[in-house]
Amino acid sequence: MALIASPAALAVAILLAFAPSAFGFFTPQSGGSPNADSIDTLYKIVLYIALFVFVVVEGALGYALYKFRARRGRVAKQTHGNTRLEIAWTGAAVAIVVVLAVITFIKLGSIINPVNSDPSGAKLVGQTGVFFASAEKRLPPDHKALEIEVIGKQFVWQYVYPGAINKDGLGAPYTYEQMVVPTHTTVLLKAISEDVVHSWWIPELGGKIQVIPGRPNYTWFKIDKPGIYRGQCANICGRGHARMIASVRAIPPAQFEAWLARQKRWLAEANAEAAKMRANLESKKGPASVLNP
Ligand code: CUA
Repeated sequence: MALIASPAALAVAILLAFAPSAFGFFTPQSGGSPNADSIDTLYKIVLYIALFVFVVVEGALGYALYKFRARRGRVAKQTHGNTRLEIAWTGAAVAIVVVLAVITFIKLGSIINPVNSDPSGAKLVGQTGVFFASAEKRLPPDHKALEIEVIGKQFVWQYVYPGAINKDGLGAPYTYEQMVVPTHTTVLLKAISEDVVHSWWIPELGGKIQVIPGRPNYTWFKIDKPGIYRGQCANICGRGHARMIASVRAIPPAQFEAWLARQKRWLAEANAEAAKMRANLESKKGPASVLNP
């Protein structure tokens, strides 16, 4: 009981007891993709160093407040500068900044550079074109990734998958709100906005990126565990911002390939049906020839 005699000691005891869950609440979500895990690790390193500095500084302050509190008949020692102490705390602060910068740059590579897909990943149908890298678009070391276009618009997310039927890029399968991806496969996202600035963010799958008109931004993820990963537009973009939810459904590669083939077939069937109806309407004479009544 002596240990929890003071409120401060009690607070520390409670924090220690709930430490794992408490830190889980304060630190980034992760576990879905390697880049999200690296962000989480980097965050925790900075957090622990900051906590250590906080405890040391506040501890020294508390100690000084108590030890040198005002007392009757005592005059405080008058000090004017302490060169050694000043050099020490400046040097220590600089050292911490340098250490943090070095750790950040070491970790940064695993956050921004995509990794190769696993051997069990999807076959990357429709991804046989020439791959190129730019300052923003980073490719995995083997230059193979499944590229999906993320289109932000007021107020819905649209995803366009590889497999355009026409040379002009039209006829590719697409979905709204929920993206479907294969597990064990590196997925490269090319994000572009059709109107205002949006922000794509599925916390468990990595960092958030700005989705702006006219200039694509790139990010990536690789999911090993099948499941649904949720997120939401993270940039106020108008009245419907709150409704701009997003999710990623990861399914085994074979299932994904079957799903993509089915989407393409349905799209082709619907286009063929529409072409047939158009031809039928255009062949009519008289009142029935009106295309848009
Ligand atoms: Cu789109 Cu908020």
